[in-house]
Amino acid sequence: MAFNTDKHTMVESEDGSFTAYSTQFQEHYHSTRDGALHESLYKHVIPAFEHHKDKDELNILDICFGLGFNTLATLYYMREEGIIKKVRIFSPEFDGELIASLKDFHYPEIFAPFLPIIEALSTKQVYEDENLYIELYIGDARDYIASCDERFDVVYQDAFSPATNPLLWTKEYFADMTKCVSDEVIITTYSMALKTRIALYENGFNLYINRGEGYRDATLASKMSLQGYEKVDIKHKMSCNPDVHALRDADVISAEDVL
Ligand SMILES: C[S@@+](CC[C@H](N)C(=O)[O-])C[C@H]1O[C@@H](n2cnc3c(N)ncnc32)[C@H](O)[C@@H]1O
Repeated sequence: MAFNTDKHTMVESEDGSFTAYSTQFQEHYHSTRDGALHESLYKHVIPAFEHHKDKDELNILDICFGLGFNTLATLYYMREEGIIKKVRIFSPEFDGELIASLKDFHYPEIFAPFLPIIEALSTKQVYEDENLYIELYIGDARDYIASCDERFDVVYQDAFSPATNPLLWTKEYFADMTKCVSDEVIITTYSMALKTRIALYENGFNLYINRGEGYRDATLASKMSLQGYEKVDIKHKMSCNPDVHALRDADVISAEDVL
């Protein structure tokens, strides 16, 4: 099956890795400026693994699978760094056609050792070996987190932006998420939007800035305090922006009614 369809087309990003453009969401799957591979590693995988460096087992929720960069970059990073842990990755994705076409996506050369895993996920939605278990859920991420009975240590929060994919950024969405995460969870996301940061804060999360060379600032959320990151003074931001509130399901549903 060819990857390019009327729903998505492959696009080269700044670091030379390919991402895709969604005609449905009118957005790229990754920041073309930061680069698909770069974004996965620096905004998601590295902060998550640094936070959990002493843990022998990790349960990861990858929201949403898309092209699978966050999962693949996790495997790549573990191999490069010689990290031996038992890792279980669960990833909802409602675009089953996209998953079926991933065999034909042009992945970076460094992902070559993991292409058999993509092949298995793309056809059977599951992959397992001694230290690794990956399972895709073809369906809505909201349904998945509302009914799942896992305890996640890491959440790669990588939906399309709050503007185009709002139901995966609301206070109610994060409230459901808090029921299926461990106390030590770290949520990694590229989003800096105040209304989604407030939605996380009102669910008991501390917020931190993930800042580094070669990528734009991103956000980390944790119920614990994170060392080595600047804490976001969310109360100050809220007092300076009194009109901005947590994004709520009701806002999204009433906006859809207007359309
Ligand atoms: C920004 S892309 C994810 C990129 C992905 N993490 C990667 O590394 O390639 C967002 C993905 O969310 C999926 N999506 C959007 N809303 C969803 C929902 N409610 N449930 C499940 N998947 C959803 C889209 O189909 C798309 O593949």
